[in-house]
Amino acid sequence: MQTELSKQLGVEHAVFGFTPFPAVAAAISRAGGFGVLGAVRYTAPDDLARDLDWLQEHVDGRPYGLDVVMPAKKVEAAAGRTLTEADVEAMIPAAHRQFVEETLAKHGVPGLAEGEASGWRITGWMEQVARGQLDVAFDYPIKLLANALGSPPADVIARAHEQGVLVAALAGSARHARKHADAGIDIVVAQGYEAGGHTGEIASMVLTPEVTEAVAPLPVLAAGGIGSGEQVAAALALGAQGVWLGSVWLTVTEADLHSPALTRKLLAAGSGDTVRSRALTGKPARQLRTEWTDAWDDPQGPGTLPMPLQGLLVAEAVSRIQKYEVEPLLGTPVGQIVGRMNSERTVQAVFDDLTRGFERAVARLNRIAGRG
Ligand SMILES: Cc1cc2nc3c(=O)[nH]c(=O)nc-3n(C[C@H](O)[C@H](O)[C@H](O)COP(=O)(O)O)c2cc1C
Repeated sequence: MQTELSKQLGVEHAVFGFTPFPAVAAAISRAGGFGVLGAVRYTAPDDLARDLDWLQEHVDGRPYGLDVVMPAKKVEAAAGRTLTEADVEAMIPAAHRQFVEETLAKHGVPGLAEGEASGWRITGWMEQVARGQLDVAFDYPIKLLANALGSPPADVIARAHEQGVLVAALAGSARHARKHADAGIDIVVAQGYEAGGHTGEIASMVLTPEVTEAVAPLPVLAAGGIGSGEQVAAALALGAQGVWLGSVWLTVTEADLHSPALTRKLLAAGSGDTVRSRALTGKPARQLRTEWTDAWDDPQGPGTLPMPLQGLLVAEAVSRIQKYEVEPLLGTPVGQIVGRMNSERTVQAVFDDLTRGFERAVARLNRIAGRG
């Protein structure tokens, strides 16, 4: 599964793997793919440095990258200044806090222990925090910097290029992809509606060729709904220079979800068990459908707040739900490919399956084309 881009980056397979877990990112790179560590969950720069140290030691010299989330600064722009976490907290209406407590109480979710920090406190959506992550990341020999929501700022792109780091950005439409290209990025990740996490409304089958044509000759990675080698072959047939997978790594043995109940839910879920909801972050993100997402999506409820308010509002609640494994409310971002994630495998086994499936697809197409 080699393309010009995989050769340029010096990897065996044009398979890019996004994951919040350093152990999974390292295993992806060691298996011949390109591991990309998600940084959004690192509030403290020291924690990110510790995990990048670990990653660097465990990739066996193979290349890897980092993914940050710098959203368009809507809330900050409205305020006319850079906001601290306390400023954002103060913008959350009391009625929303009450709704969170009522929903948790309905399911008997216990509180965290006195002084226990919320493990799911994500502030990396705030530019200030993301910039702190970048200051750390540029001290490491990362080969790729990806940004989830919009083009990274011009100074970040320039800094990456000065250090020989390629810049990628996720796009859910050809229009967004063109904006990224105009901003000077190197790789577009075309993320379809099926994908886990923040998604647009266009399915990969339509999006991949549209984006490929819109930004040519920039390389495009297809993301969303890819979990088999046949699907990799389909994405490459549509013009992508590689694939970008996220969901499939959630149930690998190297992943540490800290919740056997969540792993069981993922393994049991079908492709119809996800929903695109604003419940977690304030922007539409595909995730397991749960009574938590139903509560936020209910027209009788207060509705969600914009990013980054919603993420801060629900942070402690999500940590409580995860800690006590309250199954009706327990969820995670994941894409429709969850329907194929039916057993725990090692990262290497995922690569073996991808390679075999890819070869089957190529052989089948060759037969159809009358070539053997
Ligand atoms: C648990 C989870 C968390 C994610 N978080 C991020 C993130 O922080 N930044 C990002 O660029 N993409 C994030 N994504 C999206 C992935 O990068 C990737 O584009 C997507 O998972 C691809 O579609 P798939 O889920 O069908 O494989 C996340 C996906 C999942 C499943």
